[in-house]
Amino acid sequence: MMEINITDEDIKSLKDKVVVLTGGSSGIGLATTKLLLSVGASVVSGDMNPPPVEHERLSFVKTNVTKWFDLVALFDLAQERHGRIDHAFANAGVSGRMDYMEDRLDDNGRLIEPNHEVLDVNLKAVINTTYLALHHLRNQEHAGGSIVLTASASSYQRFRVADYTAAKHGVLGFMRGIVPNLTRLGLPIRINSLAPGWTETGMVPKGVVEAAGASTQSPDVVAKSAALLMASNSYQGTLIYSDQGKYWEIEETMLKHVADITGSGEGEDVVMDKIMKLAAEHGSGTGSLPGSSN
Ligand SMILES: NC(=O)c1ccc[n+]([C@@H]2O[C@H](COP(=O)([O-])OP(=O)(O)OC[C@H]3O[C@@H](n4cnc5c(N)ncnc54)[C@H](O)[C@@H]3O)[C@@H](O)[C@H]2O)c1
Repeated sequence: MMEINITDEDIKSLKDKVVVLTGGSSGIGLATTKLLLSVGASVVSGDMNPPPVEHERLSFVKTNVTKWFDLVALFDLAQERHGRIDHAFANAGVSGRMDYMEDRLDDNGRLIEPNHEVLDVNLKAVINTTYLALHHLRNQEHAGGSIVLTASASSYQRFRVADYTAAKHGVLGFMRGIVPNLTRLGLPIRINSLAPGWTETGMVPKGVVEAAGASTQSPDVVAKSAALLMASNSYQGTLIYSDQGKYWEIEETMLKHVADITGSGEGEDVVMDKIMKLAAEHGSGTGSLPGSSN
């Protein structure tokens, strides 16, 4: 696991950049908004609630990330105001909603379908935000930029809030699925993720965590890791874990560990390309995977 040090110098290139983000009115998103504004970036923020700060380089549009056309309007606003988008930060999220150990029954005694709101906000909306970001970054004049996803330390651990954990594993999985496609197509777009440990926000009240004997970190810590992933061209497919104000890059270590066990890894994408091409030629189901007709 590689520890990372983040300095002001590392993020100063974000001056004059345009960042679209979700969940910018509280916690990690708000801290990131303030940091970006402080280094001279412009922020276009979409949230259910208005931001508690005003700034000439901050635009806000009320956005429910679970509504596709709200997200479309958020990205359109950025293009209208600034003529381009440099980075997107898919960050909005909610805490767990579902206890799968509890039987919830309707009036006829039948089990009620689980509440999937967490999957809608924390995973499906992240995928939709990324899809829009890819579209804008790829098709604008001077194509390029980066996307940062807020995953979690629960993206790679057993964490008893099962709906939240499933969504955050999904965020990491989605990034892992997108990276080889960006590479395959040679697109000048990077995608990276954050894995904050306990962070004092609207979702995680400091008092509750501390009463349980754990510690929280400031959302300013996480904001710096989001800014670093936007600013530094050296990160692609990275997951930065932050805890107690320290940072570690953990994705490469995790993938290497798995590759050591399974013998997979480098060259896997070449094999995948061949499989998809052959599947397409044979008309099998795998042929419907993206890129199989190339
Ligand atoms: N706080 C932590 O310890 C922690 C740890 C790991 C990951 N995260 C993740 O960080 C992200 C930010 O959460 P936070 O901790 O800053 O919490 P927060 O509650 O302070 O901020 C979440 C923001 O998302 C917005 N939001 C929620 N649902 C929305 C929707 N449907 N449409 C638009 N906006 C919506 C809220 O209005 C709020 O402004 C989330 O994805 C969360 O899962 C937090």
